[in-house]
This record gives sequence, C-alpha cells and structure tokens, in this order.
Amino acid sequence: MNTIKLPKNSIDYFKSNQDKIFESGNLAEGPWNEKLSKEIESIANSKKAICVNSNGSGLVALLLIYKEYYGRSEVMIQSNTMYGVKTITKTAGYKLANIIDCQIETLMPSFEDIKKSINNYKGDIKKLVILLSDIGGIINPDILKIAKICKDKNIILIEDSAHTFGSTLNGKFAGTFGDAGVYSYYSTKAIFAGEGGIVVTNNEEVGNLMKNFIAYDRFNRKMQIGCNIRLPELQALMIFSVVKEHKAIIKNKFKIAEKYIKVCDSLNIKYINQNVNKMNGNYYKFTIISKDKNVSDFLGNVKTTTSKVYDYALGNSKEIPKKHLCLPIWFDLEEKISDQVVNELKSSTKDQ
Ligand SMILES: Cc1ncc(COP(=O)(O)O)c(C=O)c1O
Repeated sequence: MNTIKLPKNSIDYFKSNQDKIFESGNLAEGPWNEKLSKEIESIANSKKAICVNSNGSGLVALLLIYKEYYGRSEVMIQSNTMYGVKTITKTAGYKLANIIDCQIETLMPSFEDIKKSINNYKGDIKKLVILLSDIGGIINPDILKIAKICKDKNIILIEDSAHTFGSTLNGKFAGTFGDAGVYSYYSTKAIFAGEGGIVVTNNEEVGNLMKNFIAYDRFNRKMQIGCNIRLPELQALMIFSVVKEHKAIIKNKFKIAEKYIKVCDSLNIKYINQNVNKMNGNYYKFTIISKDKNVSDFLGNVKTTTSKVYDYALGNSKEIPKKHLCLPIWFDLEEKISDQVVNELKSSTKDQ
C-alpha cells in the first residue's frame, strides 16, 4: 500500500529550523526538548511533559519510578493491546496480576471489566498499577469512572496513550485522566514523526523524578534508578513540527472517516464512531466492528485494509481479532484508495 505522508507545513518547518541545531552544536538536551515539553504541557493542559525516545521507554521508566518511590510491583494490563505492553511490565520487574477483558464496542475494557478485575484481585492493592491502553484513536469512554475507582482504591492508573495524541473526551486531552500518560510518535501512529514519546503527568513529584531519571540523575545524584532514554534535539524538532499540525492532520483524517461513515451507515455496517458523546478521536484507525459474526463472514470482499488493532489477544478477549477490521485512513490518503474501499464494502454486502 502507499506511503504514509507528513503535512508539507511540518516538513517545511523542520527544514527551516534544522540548520539552527547544527549551528548551535546542541544536538542533545537542548532548547527543542524544552520547547516541545512546553508545547505539550500547554496543548494537553498537563503540569509536566517529559520527552523520551519512545512510548515504551516512557512506560518502563514510569513503572520503575512507581516501584522505587511508591511501592508498586504488580500490574494489570488489558487483553487487547500491543504485545509490547506485556513485555514492558516484566522489563520493569513487575508481576502481571491480571489481563483485563475487553469489549468489541470499544476494543477496550469497560468500567465493569475493570471493577471485576479489581474485585477479584487477591494481592495488596497498595502495590497495584493499572496500565490501560487507549485503542485506535479514542480514549477509553469509561475513563472518568475508571480513574475515580482507581483514586478511591489507591491504585495507580497509567494511561498508555500511544494511539491518542490529539484525542479528547469532554474537552480533556488523552493521557491526562490517570496519574500519568505516555504518547507515541512512532511512524505508523495518527500523529507521527518516526520515533519518540512524551510522558505527561499532573503530579509534579513524578514529573520531576522522570526528568531526573532520563538524565541518570547525574546532576542531583540522589536517585538509585535512571537511564538515558532521551529524545535527540533533531527528533524533538521533528515531533514539534508535526505536533504543530496535529489539528490539521486530524481534520484531514476526519474527512476520510466521513466518507466511510456515509457508506457504512447506508449498508448498515457497524463501526467505532470517534465523534460521539463528547469524544473526539484522532481516527488513528477506522474500525469496523461486528458483535456476533466474524467480519470475514460478511465483508469477504473488503481486501483494502490496514493492520488490525490487534490480530491477537493477550488474555481472554479472543473474539476481538475476528470481529473487527480497519480501513485505510492516514493523512492525505489518496482518493483512489478510499474509493476502492467504498466499492469493496458495497460489493461485499450486495448479495446479503
Ligand atoms: C498500544 C500501544 N502501546 C505502546 C506502544 C509502543 O509505542 P512505541 O513504539 O513508541 O514504544 C504501541 C506501539 O505500537 C502501541 O500500539
């Protein structure tokens, strides 16, 4: 399939600023990291934003900080998430306490799934972290209730917002609902810049620990943990150039989504609507879902698809891979591709 493109404004901005980095000789720990942090703090309305070299490294660092300073050592993740979320937990030395079930309507756990998992937990709740992934471009619709139960029960909630930079719920930015969140700017994400991540938190103490962690705490020399997981200056500029355009990127993707929505509505095909109930997703994925049948049973002619989120289950939600598919949706997607998708959808349902 064709290449994923960046907006021209982002490329021009990057090109017009890169020479300044070379001239300054400041290739690391310089002003672009600072500028990007400030920009994200302002966009996400978060007290602290710390640039890291990937979402995964940011999550490992957060888990290590919660282990070292807040006595946490057990974690729950969700069944439907990237395999690496599981490896992250062991990398950080955590015990995987449970893998929470997910629902086909959102591809994420509902509040009831979370409540059930907490109620069945036999360990010491003061040791627990719940690491939840936003999937496909929307924030977990139950996140407010989930954040409340976590707060009430003294469970740390980390929002893996790898997919949801730019998405909001009730006007509140993804990544800011729990104790901390992490974005990803990896190549295939909705708002992408090749590599990189940003940790956000409203907890000043955690934010400061993270800032020192990424510098091995070599200036204060108080912490026992830390590692260089920093973002190079050129990459910070790259992410800044793309983040500047994030609203334009989402608007562009929304137009493609509207085309798919129109045809799905007319053919009675169910999909995850990313603009309902005060939710504004970034359309990382356009996901068709089916509650009962496998999608291949009734959309066999739809061949123009992108990778599923996901084609495996880490826990019990084994039906989810079979009951959804994702249509191509990226910035400036060629019209001939979306036309082809529309034709394939129509031809699949023609005889039913
Ligand atoms: C749900 C989820 N979490 C975390 C990650 C990790 O992001 P990164 O590649 O920036 O480490 C990904 C990336 O694929 C992901 O899909």
